[in-house]
Amino acid sequence: MMNFRFLILGSFAGLTLLPGCRPIESDNPSARQSANKAEPHSKQVRVSFTESIRPILSNHCTICHNSEVLPTRPNFETREGAMKSGMIVPGNPDASRILSLIKEDPAAEKAMPPVSHRLTNDQITLLKTWIEEGADWPGGEAGRVKPAFIPRE
Ligand code: HEC
Repeated sequence: MMNFRFLILGSFAGLTLLPGCRPIESDNPSARQSANKAEPHSKQVRVSFTESIRPILSNHCTICHNSEVLPTRPNFETREGAMKSGMIVPGNPDASRILSLIKEDPAAEKAMPPVSHRLTNDQITLLKTWIEEGADWPGGEAGRVKPAFIPRE
């Protein structure tokens, strides 16, 4: 009986050590980087819109950047809205104004997002890598970003 239990435990431990058992997507940039180092040409580890980018936009941006609150400003609720604004240039983070405003000195008048919604360096790295990788974002309703919360009046 004992032996049988060890056998099960042993094979479980062995499985988790197999290199193929690494999660394909991770919203932890340092995990991504070490994974990329091991396999520099791996196309498997990419920033996932659903896992990493949608929560950032939802928690920090679409509360304001939606068609009702800021009708004349970039709309980050859908891929179509965001692309129309020209703020995201797939494959070209340097030309993507969404990033230049986020990275601006927080004291700058136009820095984004406004103070209480600022992003961490990890979140900025995720956005940058996602844009570098082509800003994969499902079109239409599938990719809709709802604001995570509605501010109190
Ligand atoms: C509290 C409301 C609010 C939040 C949250 C917010 N923004 Fe903004 N954003 C604004 C306003 C207002 C403007 C227009 C500012 C101006 O023109 O002076 C703006 C402008 C911008 C612009 C420039 C638009 C242009 O026409 O040049 C970008 C890009 C932008 N925001 C990105 C973001 C991103 C990305 C986030 C989330 C990470 C974010 N914003 C979160 C209110 C917000």
